[in-house]
Amino acid sequence: MQKKIIITGGAGFIGSHVVRRFVKNYPNYLIVNLDKLTYAGNLANLRDIENEPNYEFVKGDIVDADFVNELFAAEQPDAVIHLAAESHVDRSITNPIDFVMTNVVGTVVLLNAARNTWKGRYDQTRFYHVSTDEVYGTLGEDGMFTETTGYDPHSPYSASKASSDHFVRAYHDTYGMDAVVSNCSNNYGSFHFPEKLIPLAINNIKQNKPVPVYGKGENIRDWLWVEDHARAIDVIFHKAKAGTTYNIGGHNEWKNIDLIRLLCHIMDKKLGRREGESEKLITFVTDRAGHDLRYAIDASKLKAELGWVPSITFEEGLERTVDWYLANQVWLNDVTSGHYQQYYNEQYANR
Ligand code: NAD
Ligand code: TYD
Repeated sequence: MQKKIIITGGAGFIGSHVVRRFVKNYPNYLIVNLDKLTYAGNLANLRDIENEPNYEFVKGDIVDADFVNELFAAEQPDAVIHLAAESHVDRSITNPIDFVMTNVVGTVVLLNAARNTWKGRYDQTRFYHVSTDEVYGTLGEDGMFTETTGYDPHSPYSASKASSDHFVRAYHDTYGMDAVVSNCSNNYGSFHFPEKLIPLAINNIKQNKPVPVYGKGENIRDWLWVEDHARAIDVIFHKAKAGTTYNIGGHNEWKNIDLIRLLCHIMDKKLGRREGESEKLITFVTDRAGHDLRYAIDASKLKAELGWVPSITFEEGLERTVDWYLANQVWLNDVTSGHYQQYYNEQYANR
């Protein structure tokens, strides 16, 4: 094996796409997926590659320093791609401590294990931290987030991610660790847990249930197809200079209400419903506390320096995503019923 990479959070939405991409495209890398399998972690997301010879799964909590230190000492990884996190803003409003533990403490535990393992070898190792555009706070009607925009997080989720970004950069600046950070806009695509806007809306429209739109639906997000994010991570991992940051985004801003209307239109078509039928499910509900108005990413540095641009349009990506959810009803049923959590016990009980 040329390289051993620990990918954290590989059983989650984005992590599973990154793991799949690396396992398939780099047969000379050994990919170790480290995941606690919280409610958001689902090994069914990786069933197509779970038996590949260059893939291993390790169940564990990144907050547990003894466990993480032992894992690093045993595995001697060459790199970490860190995606494990609590990722849902609404959950962070209900339970901020979980976010501090996993996103802040967990990141520092990983950094420290990497530091202990890699001392004197920083030129041959890399810590890649996957972060969000939400650290930059909110925009008014104009402007975009660039890599030099000041941090101004508002939710417990974005505050915890901002803190973790600072720690990663501190390990680069203080200890000389080769670390890179990327901040990406909202992702969508297959294997997305149906608590987030797009998969939740697809699931509810399909079942003829109300589609909850927070406030007036005027908030704007910049959406990127998850496989384009995974490709950007691949490019940055291989090409970025130590200590650099890249913003990743699709130049694709949508008001929530317009996005939901487009989704209703696609679903009417796919389900053979009369045009306008699904829109009747739209239900305006109480706004999220501290709801950021607008996110928009300027990804021109990534394009200019590393040549990355999104591969598909939003309309195409959304249609593919709807098709995937309609074709994967068993996955959706298992996730919404909690059944998928039994999979680990069944699969790994005797290993
Ligand atoms: P997700 O919630 O779908 O998955 C998170 C994964 O981390 C799960 O598999 C979970 O089991 C694992 N995990 C959670 N706590 C853990 C712990 N203590 N130890 C080990 N594993 C743990 O998240 P996602 O949407 O795939 O996001 C992945 C990363 O990308 C996060 O760091 C997130 O902040 C970032 N990000 C997400 C988006 C987005 O739109 N979803 C956008 C930009 C950046
Ligand atoms: P979400 O998918 O939770 O991502 P984030 O908050 O990290 O951007 O939400 C996307 C947008 O959709 C956000 O403005 C909140 C809004 N939203 C709704 O209107 N209804 C919902 O049921 C959810 C989950 C989100």
